[in-house]
Amino acid sequence: MNILVTGSGGREHALAWKIAQSPLLDRLYIAPGNGGTKDSATSVALDVTDHAAVISFCVEKDIDLVVIGPEAPLVDGLADSLELAEIPTFGPTSTGAQLEGSKGFTKDICAQYNIPTAAYGRFDNANAAKAYVRDQGAPIVIKADGLAAGKGVILADSVDEACIAIDTMFAGAFGDAGTQVVVEAMMIGEEASFFAICDGENALELATAQDHKTVGEGDTGPNTGGMGAYSPAPVMTSEIRERVMTDIIMPTVKAMKDLGQPYRGVFFAGLMITVEGPKLIEYNCRFGDPECQVLMTRMKSDLVPLLLGAAKGDITGMSVSWHDNHALTVVMAAKGYPDAYDKGTLIKNIEAAEKSDSIKIFHAGTKFEAGEVLATGGRVLNVTATGQSVTEAQQKAYRAVDKITWHEGFCRRDIGWRAIEREKKAQE
Ligand code: AMP
Ligand code: GLY
Repeated sequence: MNILVTGSGGREHALAWKIAQSPLLDRLYIAPGNGGTKDSATSVALDVTDHAAVISFCVEKDIDLVVIGPEAPLVDGLADSLELAEIPTFGPTSTGAQLEGSKGFTKDICAQYNIPTAAYGRFDNANAAKAYVRDQGAPIVIKADGLAAGKGVILADSVDEACIAIDTMFAGAFGDAGTQVVVEAMMIGEEASFFAICDGENALELATAQDHKTVGEGDTGPNTGGMGAYSPAPVMTSEIRERVMTDIIMPTVKAMKDLGQPYRGVFFAGLMITVEGPKLIEYNCRFGDPECQVLMTRMKSDLVPLLLGAAKGDITGMSVSWHDNHALTVVMAAKGYPDAYDKGTLIKNIEAAEKSDSIKIFHAGTKFEAGEVLATGGRVLNVTATGQSVTEAQQKAYRAVDKITWHEGFCRRDIGWRAIEREKKAQE
């Protein structure tokens, strides 16, 4: 069969790499891909906001499945257009993508379907939001409703700070994303991510991961798209995973079905593991980046039947198996990221760093030009290693990082620290 993946990040490189291993595959295209995806797929220059162009491409190339990588085309309704054209698509419709695209939409579903999450209020004007904050007290969390590239969440320690955040959001700091604001209670616990694939009716648990969102070591500094991740997340015991499926994922599947919008794609649930159990922080309607890189590295089963089953609305009887190991990915980013950074800088020795079965380097912001790899984005490489423990996977990943020559790049040196501390304690 022929498959088209859309996107250009490390997530899409990982998806393409895994799909390319499927015996079911004939041809794999990626739009647009990056400097590393040529190992698995043919790059095509398609404008994914031009739905008609994507459909024409699929017809011309006899595409049997489209896998939409990032959230923006999902929120923009690319899956709706492809569904109308009867092209099987992995990724929810624009209504399903509202689970990520509107925090208020998700919170209302949680309230209606009794899904554990933080208590909240949803507001379209500053005065009402501030009155709610004064009533609830601090600490409290202020969120722009819409997509804000992970930046629209303020954890406020005082009522004053919360009120300033509310004013900033309504003043347009996050553009249209802030025309509505969600105010919610601060949850305390350890964060983890949970992934499940859904065909509209049924959901199948995939795996768990934890990431490091901030740019600085010790989880300090400004937020980024993610500076590293590992899988599985040690905090996610089988009992917690079962509760997540029953109390969070399955009620969401029902909610989307009840809305007449069966969800076909992946649920990426951001969770807080509190003393009362797992609670939903947020949903994303696509795989995480860099979480996808560690998931794909650990996945033993063929990914293609799962993606196709979800797209066609039938994953009944399917299962997924995993390598019994740990995977960890270190993001190498351009110096300056998440603020301004140089582009077009030269990276060398990637192949040398990858010369081991337990290392895979996924590209993100790179391009391949005249035989050289150049950095073109903020997050640039995902150096991914597997090992029998997080400690071992981390050692291997940094050994590979150190073989790469890229003077204009940097990475955090402490990816996986929480899991490694746990492993140390368990040995004591
Ligand atoms: P979100 O974009 O909703 O995932 O929020 C970004 C980050 O803010 C999360 O990963 C959490 O670290 C934090 N966060 C969001 N909501 C809450 C909450 N209600 N309580 C505590 N932390 C939160
Ligand atoms: N790494 C977090 C995300 O993909 O949203």
